[in-house]
Amino acid sequence: MNGMNHSVVSEFVFMGLTNSREIQLLLFVFSLLFYFASMMGNLVIVFTVTMDAHLHSPMYFLLGNLSIIDMAFCSITAPKMICDIFKKHKAISFWGCITQIFFSHALGGTEMVLLIAMAFDRYMAICKPLHYLTIMSPRMCLYFLATSSIIGLIHSLVQLVFVVDLPFCGPNIFDSFYCDLPRLLRLACTNTQELEFMVTVNSGLISVGSFVLLVISYIFILFTVWKHSSGGLAKALSTLSAHVTVVILFFGPLMFFYTWPSPTSHLDKYLAIFDAFITPFLNPVIYTFRNKDMKVAMRRLCSRLVHFTKIL
Ligand SMILES: *[C@@H]1O[C@H](CO)[C@@H](O)[C@H](O)[C@H]1NC(C)=O
Repeated sequence: MNGMNHSVVSEFVFMGLTNSREIQLLLFVFSLLFYFASMMGNLVIVFTVTMDAHLHSPMYFLLGNLSIIDMAFCSITAPKMICDIFKKHKAISFWGCITQIFFSHALGGTEMVLLIAMAFDRYMAICKPLHYLTIMSPRMCLYFLATSSIIGLIHSLVQLVFVVDLPFCGPNIFDSFYCDLPRLLRLACTNTQELEFMVTVNSGLISVGSFVLLVISYIFILFTVWKHSSGGLAKALSTLSAHVTVVILFFGPLMFFYTWPSPTSHLDKYLAIFDAFITPFLNPVIYTFRNKDMKVAMRRLCSRLVHFTKIL
C-alpha cells in the first residue's frame, strides 16, 4: 500500500505562539533582533577566523565551521516564523515541513558531533600538548568535519525515510511555530507508536549520548588541568567554561524535548525558541567576548579594514 495515495493533507497549519497582538509584536521585535544578531555575530567569527593568520589553528577552524552550521541552523525556522507572526493563516506545505525537519536534525546532529570534536581538540591541546599538532592536523580537522556531517545526515535520513510514506488524512494543525518530528507523527492517521519510539531512541540517544560524552571529556580535562595546575590554568579554565556553557545551553532544551515523557506540554514550544534563536546567538557572544585571542584578532582585522578604506 502506498501511503502517499491516501494523503489528503497537502499543507500544515501552525498555531503559532500567541494570539495577543502585543505579545506578537514583542516576539516579532525580539526574534528579528536575535536572528539578525546571530547571523552578524557568526559571520564576524567566520570572517575573523578566515582572515586572521594567527587563528589558523584546529580550534578556530572548528569554531568557524560551528558558526557556519549555526547560521544555517537558525535560518531553518527563524525567517519563516518571523514572516508568519502576524499572519492569521500560518501554513507550510508537506514538503516544506519535511525539509524543516530534515535540516534541523541533520544540522543539529552535525553540531553535536562537532562539539565533541571541539572537546577532543581541547583535550589534546591541554592533556597531550606535545602530540597536539601532529594529531590535530588539517587532515584530522577535515576528517572530523566530514564525520560529523555524515553522522548528522544519517541520523536525519533514518527517521525521515519512514515518515514520508505515512498517510496524513485528517488534522493538520501544529501547536507550534515550526515542524518537529514528534508533533508530525501525532498527526498521521495510522498507529505511529513504534515510529515515535524509534524517534525518541534515535534523537534521545544522539543528544543524551553526546552530552554524556562531552561532560565526561570535560571532567577529564578539568581533572588533568587541576593536577598539573601551572601558569596555563586560568586560560584553560576560561576556554573550557565557554565550551561547557555552550554545551549546556545547546543540549538542555533538546534533551528535555526528546526525552520528556509528556510531549504535549506547552513548555517545549517555548524551549524551542531557545534552540532556534538564543543558542546560535550565544555561541558568538561566548566565544568572542570571553576569548582574548579572538578579541585581539577582531581588533587587528578592524584596523586593517579602516586602513584599507583609507587607501581607497
Ligand atoms: C572549516 O574547516 C576547514 C577544515 O579544517 C577549514 O579549512 C576551514 O577554514 C574552516 N572554515 C571556517 C570558516 O573556519
